[in-house]
Amino acid sequence: MDLLKERIQAEGLVLDNSLLKVDSFLNQQIDPELMMKIGEEFVKRFQGERITKILTIESSGIAVSVMTGLILKVPVIFARKKKPKVTDDNVYTAKVHSFTKRESNDIIVSKQFLQKEDSVLIIDDFLANGEAAAGLANIVEQANASLVGIGIVIEKSFQPGAQKLIQAGYRVESLARIKAFSNGQVIFY
Ligand code: G4P
Ligand code: NA
Ligand code: NA
Repeated sequence: MDLLKERIQAEGLVLDNSLLKVDSFLNQQIDPELMMKIGEEFVKRFQGERITKILTIESSGIAVSVMTGLILKVPVIFARKKKPKVTDDNVYTAKVHSFTKRESNDIIVSKQFLQKEDSVLIIDDFLANGEAAAGLANIVEQANASLVGIGIVIEKSFQPGAQKLIQAGYRVESLARIKAFSNGQVIFY
């Protein structure tokens, strides 16, 4: 998606040759027009698929997911990240390990929002190690719902997430695929 790549080139900041900061349109300040165009692109990529729900994770996946859900006229569910308190039979949980933060956390979705009849599109802002997306896919499987695929705004293809998810049999559609960071510059495919 050229418009997205242009914004990343113009406003993205590369930190430590490993992290891309895009706080001016995605992770802190949000550009609604760009989010809507991203939503339109996801709809185009998954055209012809039956989608009844969108599943994302708080917080940065929510904006693009809501735009996509608005176009498709389907509900958007976001998994919460919480330390589990009491055992709750009414929720699906999946373990997600963050290599960046060096900790594992449960992600949580209420069972009432996912049925076996659902056909789910997973959306997230970044794909790095694929832990968050794999956890979301695990929750869709626990609900015995169908998984249409995984839509990602920015994929860091030099990290193992994309390959891992594709190998697991999931369809991954990433709108900007980063091959490498080089001297503070972003190199796309
Ligand atoms: P993984 O899910 O692919 O395994 O990601 P990882 O644990 O490595 O990343 C932890 C958090 O950092 C996630 O956000 C993820 O979206 C984000 N992230 C990973 N790489 C980058 C990057 O290069 N730039 C930016 N801006 N974020 C990155 P989170 O902690 O869940 O936070 P939230 O912003 O969604 O609330
Ligand atoms: Na995220
Ligand atoms: Na994030």
